[in-house]
Amino acid sequence: MAFPTAWMDELLAKNEIVSVLSSYMELKPKGRKLWGLCPLHGEKTASFSISPDKQLFYCFGCHAGGTVIQFIMDIERLPFVEAVQFLANRVGMEMPREVNDDALRKQRAYRERLYEAVKEAARYYCEQFIAPEGKVARDYAARRGLQKEIILRFGIGYAPNEWDRLKVHLTQKGFSEKELVDAGLLVQNADKNSSYDAYRNRLIFPIIGTNGRVLGFGARVLDDSKPKYINTGDTPIYNKRNNLYGLNLQKNIKQGDLVMVEGYMDVIGLYKAGVENAVASLGTALTQQQARLIKRYVETVYIAYDGDAAGQSATIRGMEILKNEGLNVHVIAFPDNLDPDEYVQIYGRDGFDRLKQSALTLNAFKLESMAAGVNMDSENERENYAKQACAYIATLQPVEQERYYNLLAKKTGYDVQSLKRQGGRGGSSQLSTSRLSRGGIRRKTDEEETARELLERSLIGAALQNKGALQLLQESDTKKYISIDTYASLLDAMGKSDFSMASYVAGLEQKDAERISSILKDEGVQTDPIRTVKEVIGRIDRLSNEERLASLQEKLKEPQLSAAEKADILKEIQLCIRAIK
Ligand code: UTP
Ligand code: MN
Repeated sequence: MAFPTAWMDELLAKNEIVSVLSSYMELKPKGRKLWGLCPLHGEKTASFSISPDKQLFYCFGCHAGGTVIQFIMDIERLPFVEAVQFLANRVGMEMPREVNDDALRKQRAYRERLYEAVKEAARYYCEQFIAPEGKVARDYAARRGLQKEIILRFGIGYAPNEWDRLKVHLTQKGFSEKELVDAGLLVQNADKNSSYDAYRNRLIFPIIGTNGRVLGFGARVLDDSKPKYINTGDTPIYNKRNNLYGLNLQKNIKQGDLVMVEGYMDVIGLYKAGVENAVASLGTALTQQQARLIKRYVETVYIAYDGDAAGQSATIRGMEILKNEGLNVHVIAFPDNLDPDEYVQIYGRDGFDRLKQSALTLNAFKLESMAAGVNMDSENERENYAKQACAYIATLQPVEQERYYNLLAKKTGYDVQSLKRQGGRGGSSQLSTSRLSRGGIRRKTDEEETARELLERSLIGAALQNKGALQLLQESDTKKYISIDTYASLLDAMGKSDFSMASYVAGLEQKDAERISSILKDEGVQTDPIRTVKEVIGRIDRLSNEERLASLQEKLKEPQLSAAEKADILKEIQLCIRAIK
């Protein structure tokens, strides 16, 4: 961490979490914690908790969690350093003047310059759009039905058809060539000695972050030439993996749903038609960071990718990522290879709403996409499809299975009972190891991981609560019992005499901070921490012996084993069984 530890400790001590957070929400004590309605997502029952002992918060609803710094980052929408600054101001502390901090301040100041440059550029492009030479862009926009109101709302502009107009304009404003190159506004020639405007004769779509600042641009040609779009690459202020186009227009509350589309024009086209909750992943594969971002706003996402093949395969990948972040995922399928923008132009908002209402659940979409290209009139193809689909359905939870067997029965004409029997054999049939089961098999490992995570978390929780429990855990084979890196590092740190939970968590990546804050979930559940450690260690031993036993039994089935090898395995099996007993 770039801040000196002592300084950070003081900051966290002065910004006691309860006193800071109580100005954002009402808090009521219950047990060892305080509870309130989560201000980071809309809710009616209190699932936001604070542990004053640990100086951490955790929301059971949106899974946000961490220190008071993380809370300020979330609620005030500030990056880390600025959130620290915010808290320092709150208690009248000076930001540290150490060497480290100097570097940091320079970096921040530089980023600030880039933000300014990009903002100036956005303004310039808007001016050019209404200037005489912007007529080509205005004509193009008019052809695409973009009225003035939409142009203003999305800040659409025009980059003139010359090599250095922006460069001249911004250098006159005092920006250096290096700053402009770093911000992605200029492109360097191969010799690195000269540079030119990155976007020329293109319609400009500013990409705006959730903090309301312009980060970069998408630039579209005005005809059919290629490439159709040029986008700002990664810069110190913009990383496409962490942003979604249109998210800045969404309200900062957890309500309703978002529609996930591919492109700039889809967001804009839908908005124009009255569907204002679309965001775009901008043609790239959806990332986990984007999914986590979405999770801050809503619980439900409708994927509305283009109807073409590329869009459909992106849909499948995107679904998995969104589902893994715990979002409810539905899929809107557009007919005739239309994209959302084209669809609403023909069928309007009502048409879109109808499609949305009949959106497929994730599983139904998977079954649909398995059926793509299958000729149901061919006995063979239909049978194969049914087998594949059954193998997939067999991986779902029992209540879900019911629904999809029925759906499959309707689709294929087989009766539900024989489909179920087929699915029942799915686990061992060849089909289940074919390409289809990839998505399906995952679910199981997810569950296993969660079980393991629960066990490890309760070990750490116990150790945090009680010195004796900590000691017991430290004296055990910790590598074996704490396999999750986040917890292993925490346990290490807990061994140090000056350990402070809040300072430790403040130095972590957000993902780890949230994971550790989730320990708050178990708070108060453990009445006898030492016993917990003993029991959980016993359970993990048992689990790993059982796993080992299963793999030995598998091994025993191999046909080419020699008698001696068999005997060895049997001996090990016996040892395992004894250990389990
Ligand atoms: P599309 O080709 O579907 O574009 O690409 P679109 O959004 O429908 O745009 P219009 O309607 O033709 O104007 C979807 C997204 O993929 C990215 C862009 O983000 C685009 O919005 N893309 C596409 C590129 O980055 N470069 C390209 O050359 C093409
Ligand atoms: Mn389009």
